Amino acid sequence: MKKEKIILDVDTGSDDAIAIICAALHPQLDLLALTTVCGNKPVPNTTENTLRVVDLLGMNIPVYRGCAEPMVAELIPERHAETRQTAASAVQDGEVIEYHGDYLEIPPATSKIQRKSAVSYLIDTLLESDGDITLIAVGPLTNLGVAFRADPRIIEKIKRIVIMGGGHEVGNRTPSAEFNIWKDPEAAQIVFTSGCEILLVPLDATHVGVVTYAESEAIREINTPVAIAVSDFMDQRIKAYDALQPMAIAGSTPPHDALAVLAAVDESILYDIQLKRVDVDFGGGLADGRTIVDNRVPTDNPPNIRFAFNCHREKFVKMLMDTIALSKEL
Ligand code: BDR
Ligand code: CA
Repeated sequence: MKKEKIILDVDTGSDDAIAIICAALHPQLDLLALTTVCGNKPVPNTTENTLRVVDLLGMNIPVYRGCAEPMVAELIPERHAETRQTAASAVQDGEVIEYHGDYLEIPPATSKIQRKSAVSYLIDTLLESDGDITLIAVGPLTNLGVAFRADPRIIEKIKRIVIMGGGHEVGNRTPSAEFNIWKDPEAAQIVFTSGCEILLVPLDATHVGVVTYAESEAIREINTPVAIAVSDFMDQRIKAYDALQPMAIAGSTPPHDALAVLAAVDESILYDIQLKRVDVDFGGGLADGRTIVDNRVPTDNPPNIRFAFNCHREKFVKMLMDTIALSKEL
């Protein structure tokens, strides 16, 4: 079977780390490169974390460092003021509980980043391509937004974009907004209105696709360094979700970004995918960063996003485990 060429844009991040591992291991994906962006942590951290995961895999995957700031959002400090955000960490019995530490708890990276910036890499690679590269973006969409503005010719060269971001019934960073879109809403709106084919994997789907402690333990039993690291990331995330944002299944976590990567291989792990008009609010108010799904018929503007409203949890978790098990062949 022909592999699908992908570039994975990440803000690594515990769930990005699992997503990178899935993208690198899955036999139907040809992971050309990783591009990093600021998001879960500043870009020096997300880049170092990305290199750490590449070293853990022992694979030769080029890493390009991307944008250090959102396109616009940080120019208006009150937009992202702490008081408007859901807590991302808590202290329990003197221990700091968080979704993502500053650095992933795996050995420091020895491999190095590429010289080119992520945006230059995206532009050059897409322009030179035969239109057969899929972008998978699981962090804020800054690199894509900047690249689209810098050289719009790349837009028609992209096969499709799979994005983890947004939410209709569910928010996480604010009551209205999901983190990746909230962090850089202007970039998200540029990408959403670019005309590219987009599959959006929002919180509505990822909060169904959770992994439990028992499933994390089953991953650990695969007993490779990669599987053990994935299980460690998962356990840390479950602890954080239980403390900060309990899921419907107690003792579970959504590895959001891994769902997007595996959905790029097999969309049938998602369900209730509907073609919708989706725009991003960037007005700075209560709905700043919200993905607004237009459910009216007809809509003012044409549909632009395939929005996954749900996911088949067990099918996803099995696919995740089967993919991680391929680390035995490394
Ligand atoms: C998204 O935000 C980040 O914290 C995660 O890595 C994921 O990409 C979930 O809202
Ligand atoms: Ca992410």
